[in-house]
Amino acid sequence: MSAVLSQELLTFRLNQEEVTVAAPPFTRLSEVLREELGAKDVKVGCNAGDCGACTVLVEGEAVCACMVPVGRLQGRDVETLAGLVRQDPLADKLKQAFLAHGAAQCGICTPGVMVAALALLRVEPRPSEEQVKDALGGVLCRCTGYLKIIQAVCSATDARPAKTQALTRSAPDGGQTVVGAVVPRLDGQAKVSGLELFGDDVAPADALVLKVVRAPHHRARFCFGDLDAYVKATPGLALVLTAKDIPGKNHFSVIPAFSDQPVFAELETRFKGEAVAAVVGDAATMAGLDLSAFPVTWEALPHALTPGEAEAPGAAQLHADRPGNLMTGGFVQKGDVAQALAAAAAVVEGSYTTSFVEHAYIEPEAGFARRVGDRLEIHACTQAPYMDRDEIVKIMDLDPAQVRIVPTATGGGFGSKLDISLQPFVALAAWMLKRPVRVTYSRTDSMTSTTKRHPAEITLKIGADESGRVTAFDFLGTFNTGAYSSWGPTVANRVPVHASGPYAIENYRARSRAIHTNCAPSGAFRGFGVPQSAVAQECLFDQLADKLGLDRLDFRLRNALHNGVPTVTGQVFEKGVGITACFEALRPHWRRALAATAAWNQQQPTGGLRRGVGLAGGWYGCGNTSLPNPATIKSGITAKGQVRLHQGATDIGQGANTVIPQIFADALGIPLAQIELVGGDTDITPDAGKTSASRQTFVSGNAARLSGAALRAEILRLANLSADAKLKIAAGAIHLEEQGVSHRIALDQLEVNPDGYVLMAVESYDPPTQPLDENGQGVPYAVFGYAAHMMELEVDQTLGTVKLLKLTAAHDVGRAINPQLVEGQVEGGAAQGIGMALMEEFLPGRTENLHDYLIPTFGDMPPVETLIIEEEDAHGPYGAKGLGEHVLIPTAPAILNAIRHATGAEISRLPAMPDRVRAAILAQNKHRVEP
Ligand code: FES
Repeated sequence: MSAVLSQELLTFRLNQEEVTVAAPPFTRLSEVLREELGAKDVKVGCNAGDCGACTVLVEGEAVCACMVPVGRLQGRDVETLAGLVRQDPLADKLKQAFLAHGAAQCGICTPGVMVAALALLRVEPRPSEEQVKDALGGVLCRCTGYLKIIQAVCSATDARPAKTQALTRSAPDGGQTVVGAVVPRLDGQAKVSGLELFGDDVAPADALVLKVVRAPHHRARFCFGDLDAYVKATPGLALVLTAKDIPGKNHFSVIPAFSDQPVFAELETRFKGEAVAAVVGDAATMAGLDLSAFPVTWEALPHALTPGEAEAPGAAQLHADRPGNLMTGGFVQKGDVAQALAAAAAVVEGSYTTSFVEHAYIEPEAGFARRVGDRLEIHACTQAPYMDRDEIVKIMDLDPAQVRIVPTATGGGFGSKLDISLQPFVALAAWMLKRPVRVTYSRTDSMTSTTKRHPAEITLKIGADESGRVTAFDFLGTFNTGAYSSWGPTVANRVPVHASGPYAIENYRARSRAIHTNCAPSGAFRGFGVPQSAVAQECLFDQLADKLGLDRLDFRLRNALHNGVPTVTGQVFEKGVGITACFEALRPHWRRALAATAAWNQQQPTGGLRRGVGLAGGWYGCGNTSLPNPATIKSGITAKGQVRLHQGATDIGQGANTVIPQIFADALGIPLAQIELVGGDTDITPDAGKTSASRQTFVSGNAARLSGAALRAEILRLANLSADAKLKIAAGAIHLEEQGVSHRIALDQLEVNPDGYVLMAVESYDPPTQPLDENGQGVPYAVFGYAAHMMELEVDQTLGTVKLLKLTAAHDVGRAINPQLVEGQVEGGAAQGIGMALMEEFLPGRTENLHDYLIPTFGDMPPVETLIIEEEDAHGPYGAKGLGEHVLIPTAPAILNAIRHATGAEISRLPAMPDRVRAAILAQNKHRVEP
């Protein structure tokens, strides 16, 4: 039941203006700032002081506003980012530095980061990197890898511009092009000014509030009490929702053939955190509502949290049509693996286990819905607006034209916000009540109920001939796919295609199995299972190289794919296979690091600190596996000469709002600054597909290129000019010039179409792929990207702790549309790879917040040197390949290989936390490899 708390009148100064609020004195300052005073620039990520997103200045001191009771504010000064950038010239300098360095990606952490940085800069205008790390250590960022933030803060008061800043680069014809140029993020101003609006920032003031009632057990039977009496007995409550209120299908999924996840569970729940009901009421009532009094009784049932438990005799079946709890599997085979293993000169084998990894974006899921006549509008963070719409249509039994999805800014996604979460709850409530309804997941809601990276149990056997050529590869991966399908089928299909790594292997067998358990669904997380398979493959490659007495880099180069050489699915690329170039780029770094490591270790006493250097390669096919994967981009020119780009590829921080306009600008032949972006609103912007699988630069970028080219062709056709003509779009007219002759198209003389444009181009691109046959042979992707990482680190053999010294990361991106954004992706992805390797392990029921579940902080990142390789792709726009997933695939195995190089310890279970490293050192000391 809700509690009524006494209110006090409090007066303090917010951004130099006196404000008075009436609130219970123990109310969180963050809540008062956001909900009473409209300071939406104060972001909330955890409400526990763990993430620092809500950092504000109180009397000039940086504090987490979620941990400060507002009663302490009487007569004091509070400053937030939006006020600071308006009022403090130092804050404006910091803002410019953040823009110049690309220090904001999704932007949800940016207000907290910048406020904490400003507190430092006020006392130390030229801080060292160590001072920045210390001062900002309490603020988490999940996107950037922190390095560009550190650079921005260190140089904020530096009069010189950022060294990477350059607006355009020269085109071969002597003109200017923005493809390949470092362009500051086009949507960056709002992020660094505290003006960006995320899922929790957009609801109308009168919106009702929704909370979700969730299962407290891994598996349970349940029944409701008298829900009507509960609502009547609680003033301010408007509604309770359960499965019986769903007008359409009470099931959703991202893959239609596997539709299995209920919006609200019926009779039985299959994982802790599963929704059974939702409660809606006015904001004051909901703020004090104790959901433990909700009338539901639970009967805990036996559960299975691992594939071993789920496949044990007598284990409960999660889904009647999936015997043995086997959801699905994948398979790729070529050659004769058994014969090749028998004939191999050297064979290695191993078993590897990886953990659940939580996405831990700083923005918990949030949004609101409202009914507009017979239509529904949902404003929420998302990676896939059209997929959201299609699921809501089924759940609400509406026509697609009745549902409008308006994505807010998304504060990190990394795959999890591809799945719907809050959308059905607010949609149903708003539809029934005809009132706007909002919801914001708590950090625990977010961590218990949304998808995770699949834990993997992998066994692998690899054989090679005496020359060091891999001749046989036999892989079996079992993936814990949780209670419902989500992207499990995708992981099961993708892993066998990728498990070889970017190497040519003639005798190959890879099998995958996705097993249901009573855990939250495993889904998409940067790599779709490939980071897990890369751990096994790359760690055993090191062992095989050692067994054959070969240099580990040479061994990889000996087996690397090349143009014209078939992959394990028989696919042959005539151009663009860049893994050799990546490894060759590392070679000088490798030589230096090996020599430096050996020299350093010789100076150390036995049993203490040891340094090591590790390598790993990776590849990733961009887009869906052997499935249609189209994107559509619309562009138009108004009678006044405005150029609008309807860009529906959601930008969750990766930079689609910048990269795709860069591609479009060059295709049309106009300056980037002239383009007005129209975001991914399903009413006005066509479907660019989901932001996932490293597809947006490649697929939507190609659609943008085609749209720009089509618009240009239509302009040239109207003027009857050749493709060489130069064009300039101005107010009301397009001016063209060819061979010194000028032409003019008067735009106001052209007919305006129903979309408001006098010229318009809607173009789609779908990558050319082919289905895989029964042996997994075929053309699964049009494009692969390639990467190779080298990690230098230091292990304390007594404690088992690992200190990272430097990451050198070579990435073949085909064409770097925006090199600064490439660096940002590499650094951010590497940070997630470091987390996966060394610290991140989600344990259902135990690590459901950001103080029990640890992600890398400022102090955990080593320096990163990014080496950009451009092996032009045959299909990508201007030769570009995707990058988003590739960036963390080699990181974890490079770390494990460096630990082994340093100590001889073979780590087979991730994360390599100190106790596991120490145990591995003790267990494998006799196999020690001296660097
Ligand atoms: Fe820091 Fe996204 S930019 S969390």
